[in-house]
Amino acid sequence: MENKIKQTNIAKITVDGKTYELPIYSGSTGPSAIDVRNLHKLTGLFTFDIGYTSTCSTESQITFIDGGKGQLLYRGYPIEQLAEHSTFLETSYLLIHGELPTKDQSTKFTNIITNHTMLHEQIERFFNGFRRDAHPMAMVCGTVGALSAFYHDSLDIEDNEQRDISMHRLIAKMPTIAARAYKYSIGQPTIYPDNSLNYAENFLKMCFAVPTEKYEVNPIIADAMDKIFILHADHEQNASTSTVRLAGSSGANPFACIAAGVACLWGPSHGGANEACLNMLKEIGSVDRIPEFIARAKDRNDPFRLMGFGHRVYKNYDPRAKVMQKTTHAVLGELGIKDSPILDIAMELEKIALNDPYFVEKKLYPNVDFYSGIVLSALGFPTSMFTVLFALARTVGWVSQWNEMLEDKTQRIGRPRQLYTGATSRDYIPLANR
Ligand code: SDX
Repeated sequence: MENKIKQTNIAKITVDGKTYELPIYSGSTGPSAIDVRNLHKLTGLFTFDIGYTSTCSTESQITFIDGGKGQLLYRGYPIEQLAEHSTFLETSYLLIHGELPTKDQSTKFTNIITNHTMLHEQIERFFNGFRRDAHPMAMVCGTVGALSAFYHDSLDIEDNEQRDISMHRLIAKMPTIAARAYKYSIGQPTIYPDNSLNYAENFLKMCFAVPTEKYEVNPIIADAMDKIFILHADHEQNASTSTVRLAGSSGANPFACIAAGVACLWGPSHGGANEACLNMLKEIGSVDRIPEFIARAKDRNDPFRLMGFGHRVYKNYDPRAKVMQKTTHAVLGELGIKDSPILDIAMELEKIALNDPYFVEKKLYPNVDFYSGIVLSALGFPTSMFTVLFALARTVGWVSQWNEMLEDKTQRIGRPRQLYTGATSRDYIPLANR
């Protein structure tokens, strides 16, 4: 990656009467940043930013979010246009390489991914070690980490070609791993990848085909699945991507880094919110119970939060949620699902919340996870698979960001400091004196 930040201003900080100057850097768009890398050397001070609300961890050229406008760009292209006109593999190429592929580049990339979809047969035995009732995310997290035990020929992160092979393997194998986790959890036999199908069609077949019957992929459903993957592909320096980058900054192998990302995504405040949101909608159960849950969400003494609502960056409607809502209606229509009580509750909840002063003042809007559970449920996935699908799609974002970090010559191992408030130095007390 060619570094493009440039100094555009100076920040002055005065400590104990002494004034220090810190450079302010700007990118191509979005907020500028004060470079505090020399702050400790100059002043002996650290910055304090729990949750990194005001901290840039890196320069990046992959994804841009304008939280105020509700704008999301992948390499400059609006998410709405990519969801409408692109495919997940074309978007994957764009995220990794920075430009939309030509026809030849697209064909070559698709062939590479298609020819990496199979897993080492020993992994079948690996899966058999899990309990049948293991959460699919546990199986995916364990299996992705275990890939470093199988693919020794693509672990050298200094070798561009090996990095490419690892990225291709991860993008290609995540659907196979995800489908295998699902089949294993329902006691059905593994369905192998079918290279005559496209990425989304192949995934749906591996999940829902059985050896005893012919399986026809519904093109509308496959298109919706592909769109959902595009919406989840990347999202700048979110918690799981930052986890991948931090793991990668130590030189850990790509499979270990992506497994770390899977683990972080699992949390209900992050990728686990789609599962938590559908469970919440089921718990609400009917439109007339919505006020009770809205009241709980507003009660500072109640830890309950409206799942699928709010975002650290978006202080406007998450553009992905809008596309997801449209996709939900298209899928329900195609499946002939006329009335969906869960969707009715979701839409009524959204309407009430968007007009409630608490949510308006705190700028809490539906995020990508609000509708995804409804459409994934309609597609036939159990709630335990929702975050697995998020991880499947986000793998391309994780590997793109991991690769960008390794190509960035200014990168160093990530090592935050702390504001210590524990015991200061004291002498050991022998047991007899305690
Ligand atoms: C994802 O970072 C990303 O980009 C993530 C993601 C991606 O693509 O990678 O977009 C995917 O993780 C989407 C978010 C999914 N999570 C949820 O839907 C869980 C519910 N949402 C919240 O837990 C919360 O909104 C977060 C975690 C998403 C954001 O938390 P922040 O930025 O730390 O905000 P906060 O917790 O400081 O909340 C600010 C205020 C608080 O009230 P006060 O203390 O100021 O009085 O808003 C309140 C919160 O109590 N609040 C909510 C709320 N979210 C925030 N109140 C009720 N319901 C909510 N959902």
